[in-house]
Amino acid sequence: MIILKSLQEIEKIRKACLVVAEVLDRIRGEIRPGVSTQALDELAERWIGEAGAKPAFKGYRGYPKTLCTSLNNEVIHGIPSKSVVLSAGDIISIDVGAIIDGFYGDGAKTFPVGKITPEAERLTTVTEESLYRGIEQAKPGNRLYDISHAVQKHVESNGYSVVREFVGHGIGRNMHEDPQIPNFGPSGQGPRIKAGMVFAIEPMVNLGGSATVVREDGWTAVTVDGSLSAHFEHTIAVMPDGPVILTTK
Ligand code: MF3
Ligand code: CO
Repeated sequence: MIILKSLQEIEKIRKACLVVAEVLDRIRGEIRPGVSTQALDELAERWIGEAGAKPAFKGYRGYPKTLCTSLNNEVIHGIPSKSVVLSAGDIISIDVGAIIDGFYGDGAKTFPVGKITPEAERLTTVTEESLYRGIEQAKPGNRLYDISHAVQKHVESNGYSVVREFVGHGIGRNMHEDPQIPNFGPSGQGPRIKAGMVFAIEPMVNLGGSATVVREDGWTAVTVDGSLSAHFEHTIAVMPDGPVILTTK
């Protein structure tokens, strides 16, 4: 069941999303060679607390940290660690969730570490563009898989593949609500999109094949072929005249 949100509820989700946006903005300035993903996690946890929020991921199904930090061939859910240190040329996907007053916000971006290859740069750009192509479709009257299809089309027309084992989701009083939002699918199908729906749309895009596997840590999803992967996510609200991005300042 897809839960519709009132304007008051969307305002609350917006507060959590502003904390997410702020963390992603500030973390950009901390990303440099030599920094550990654990150090980034500690900063994010502090900033979330200072904003009067709580980390949404920590403790979720036993997840141990505030951020997910996924490097290079890691797709999502990389666990911050003192022993993972950034190097020039890496790309790092940072996913963050916050909860305020019972409502969740969720967002992610892929950042370059120092100078990266043109190939990594292009993957990152196309993934972010595909997120915006998807968001544009999130308007009343459209069908859910119009979003999915728009993401897939942009990604595949650029020669990349979308990850199929992980999806976007509804969000509100829970981090994961219906519907699931795949990053591939047939346009014109799926549930009708209505004003008051709130979605976390999150394309995960691989330079090579789409297949992923989860490491023995039980969390970190990596590409099977070892190719690079990028991830961008926004929480958006469907308003009567179209989508509004909540995870931006
Ligand atoms: N953005 C991810 C998601 O929506 C983050 C979940 S990480 C977890 O699924 F640790 F909380 F599971
Ligand atoms: Co999410």
